[in-house]
Amino acid sequence: MATETSTEKAVTSTILNIEPIDLEYCGLKKDSLKGEVAVVTGGASNVGLGYARAIAWAGGKVVIADLNEVAGAEAERVINAENEPDTALFVKTDITKEEDVKNLAAKAFEKFGKVDILINNAMNMRLNGPVLKSSVSDLDSSYAISARGVMLAIKEFVPGMIERGHGVVTYSTTQFHYCPPMVGGTIYCAGKAAATSIMMSLANEVKDTGVYVFCLTPAGVGRFDFSKMPPPPKDFEMPKDFKMPKDAPKFDFGMPGFKGMIPPEAGGAAMVYSILHAEELHGSGIIINDAFNAMDYPYPNPANLTKTESRRLTDMELTMVFCTMGPGFKK
Ligand SMILES: NC(=O)c1ccc[n+]([C@@H]2O[C@H](COP(=O)([O-])OP(=O)(O)OC[C@H]3O[C@@H](n4cnc5c(N)ncnc54)[C@H](O)[C@@H]3O)[C@@H](O)[C@H]2O)c1
Repeated sequence: MATETSTEKAVTSTILNIEPIDLEYCGLKKDSLKGEVAVVTGGASNVGLGYARAIAWAGGKVVIADLNEVAGAEAERVINAENEPDTALFVKTDITKEEDVKNLAAKAFEKFGKVDILINNAMNMRLNGPVLKSSVSDLDSSYAISARGVMLAIKEFVPGMIERGHGVVTYSTTQFHYCPPMVGGTIYCAGKAAATSIMMSLANEVKDTGVYVFCLTPAGVGRFDFSKMPPPPKDFEMPKDFKMPKDAPKFDFGMPGFKGMIPPEAGGAAMVYSILHAEELHGSGIIINDAFNAMDYPYPNPANLTKTESRRLTDMELTMVFCTMGPGFKK
C-alpha cells in the first residue's frame, strides 16, 4: 500500500519498532497540518511515536517530550529523515516536573515560535496494580504523570493557544471499563480518570475561544515484542471469575504476532483525523476504532475490525471516564 514517495523515504531504526508510514491510504492528505506545531508527551514510544510521525507526515512540526533520551533522540532523527530537516525536536522531559515542562515550552517556542497542538500521552504503563496490592506511592506516581503532568503542560501551552484563538488539546485516555487486570488495574485507571476530568473541565473553560479539547482512547495499539515485556508482578493472578464482557471490542489477541493489534502508524492516522475534526469532538471522548470507522479506514484488518465492533463510549464508560460524546463526528 505504500506510495512511491513513502517507499523512497522509508526510514528504518534499530531502536524504535517502526514500519513505513503512509496516511494517503486512509484518505489523509499531505500538508493537512502544514503550519501547525504539536507537542507530544511520551512521543518516543509506541502510541506517542505513531502520533508524532503521523503529524509530521501531515506537514506539522513536532516536539517530542519524553523521559527516554535514547528513544527520543532516535525519534527526532527518524522524523527528520522521513520529512524535511528540522521537522522534529526532542526535549528530554519529565512531565511531572514543573521545571522540565517550563524548559520544554522554552525550547519549543525557541525552535518553532508557537505551539498549536498539545497531545498529553505520557504514562508509565507499569503503574497498573490493583488497590490492595499497590503502594500509595504508585498511586502518587500515576497521578503525577497523568493529572499533574497534564495540568503542567496545559498551563504552559494553552494560554498561547487562547491568545491566538487556535489550538487543540488532547489526551490518550482509556476505556477502562473493559481493561482486564493485566492491561490496566485501578492505579492506572485512577490517574487516567483524573486527567480525563481535567481535560473535560478545560473543554468547558475554553469554550468559544477557538481551542478544542477532546480525549482519544488508543485501545489495543502496539507492536510489542513479548519476549521483552516485563513479567507480571510475582503475586499477579487473574481473578478466577474474570470474564470479558460480551460486548467488549473483539481484538484478535491470538498468538503469534498479536495480529489484531492496531499498528502505531495507524494510531497516528486516527489522531491526525481527530485533530482535523477537533471542533466536532470538543468536550468528548472517542475510541480509536470509531475514528477509523469515520475515516472508512479498514485498519488493521477488515476481517477482524468490522463496523459492528466499532462503537462510541457507552454511558457507563462515559460516567467512569468523565467523558461525554460531542455533538457529532461526521465526515
Ligand atoms: N497502547 C494502547 O493501546 C493504549 C490503550 C489505552 C490508553 N493508552 C494510553 O496511551 C498512552 C501511550 O501508551 P503506550 O502504549 O504508547 O505506552 P508506552 O509505555 O509505550 O509509552 C509511554 C511513553 O511515555 C514516556 N513517559 C513515561 N513517564 C514519563 C514522564 N514522567 N515524562 C515524560 N515521558 C514519560 C515513556 O518513556 C514512553 O516513551 C498512555 O498514556 C496510555 O495510558 C494506550
